[in-house]
Amino acid sequence: MSTVLDGKHITLGVTGSIACYKAIDLASKLTQANANVDVILTKGASKFVTTLAFAAITHRPVVTDVFDPQSELSIDHVALAERSDSIVIAPATAHTIAKMAHGLADDALTTTLLATQAPVIVAPAMDAHMFDNPATQANVRLLEERGVTFIGPASGRLASGLIGKGRLVETPEIIGCISAALGRHGDLAGKKIVVSAGGTEEAIDPVRVITNHSSGKMGYAIAEAARDRGASAVLVSTPTALPAPYGVRMVNVRSALDMRDAINHECRDADAVVMAAAVADWRPVSTADQKIKKGASNEWAIELTKTPDIIAGLAADSLVKVGFAAESQDLIANAQSKLVSKGLDLIVANDITAEDAGFASDTNRVTILDREGGADDLPLMSKYDVGVNILDRVRPLFRRDIS
Ligand code: C5P
Repeated sequence: MSTVLDGKHITLGVTGSIACYKAIDLASKLTQANANVDVILTKGASKFVTTLAFAAITHRPVVTDVFDPQSELSIDHVALAERSDSIVIAPATAHTIAKMAHGLADDALTTTLLATQAPVIVAPAMDAHMFDNPATQANVRLLEERGVTFIGPASGRLASGLIGKGRLVETPEIIGCISAALGRHGDLAGKKIVVSAGGTEEAIDPVRVITNHSSGKMGYAIAEAARDRGASAVLVSTPTALPAPYGVRMVNVRSALDMRDAINHECRDADAVVMAAAVADWRPVSTADQKIKKGASNEWAIELTKTPDIIAGLAADSLVKVGFAAESQDLIANAQSKLVSKGLDLIVANDITAEDAGFASDTNRVTILDREGGADDLPLMSKYDVGVNILDRVRPLFRRDIS
């Protein structure tokens, strides 16, 4: 999988919070995504975690002291500041945030922060009262005004045993935030891309629904890939087990009719729509207000009516329309006929009988068909990479000029 993190230089500042152990996971995930991760530990952080742990994971020297003769910073004290594509402080203590707000440079991390031009992301972790303190709040606001991005803290159980707002946000959210920062001037900047995801739920009564298999993974991955290239990404999603991706605007829906309304609304000013959702083709003619009792009969017939075809019904000429065709037979012929009948620009055909491709898996093997009869048969790849490939083909089709 190749993401916006590939080959980038990320400096990870780790400060003295009990959440330090989570920074090891963050360093590991960034390294796995092929980023070059330089870790700076503050004195406080070194009490919780060791340089060895980070060096073993990043395969790079870890900085603790500007004056350490072993450190690159002893020769060039702004080396990391200049090399970094982004600097992330996770976890960030109230003390480090205060030092940043006031421009102090009394250790390797704050020196690097003061000297950098790269986007800075701060993920605080501290006692809830420390975060709520007017001094911390004023420091956060000041830094935000200067362009620093804050992510979290999240609410939950704190090390003190109290429940409150002070937890370090989870690794995927921090990675999403770094990716969005790195991709903000990407080749889709200024474009609005609407993606649908999940299986719609058509209510029979308050407890029963008719639905389709869909984990939502394909649509979420497309939205993330669009975000990572600077697009303003909107995800119209049914309930799924997936976390909302950082930097993607979520519109939560359940039924096909809800999804149609949301898609129509969002597409008024969109440049492209990708319908990755498994929309139910049928819905009950009526939904009972109360739970329907089992009764004595062994049979029960539910009268169904067709749902509107959402993508076929989208009128906007300026919109690039991409559909999916999940087929179990005659893949290409069926996808080609849907491309025409639904008035699409592209259709992504996938064979749902393949084990490593399709519903719940993280990978997919698809063929992308276009209006000119072109068929691009892609190998098995991550759903994120499928998203990248779809967007590569959407980009030249934009009706409005790309700025
Ligand atoms: O006709 P079929 O359901 O196979 O078409 C698949 C494509 O059409 C998908 O992109 C799906 O999201 C979209 N679709 C839709 N509205 C429906 C049914 C499917 O937009 N009611």
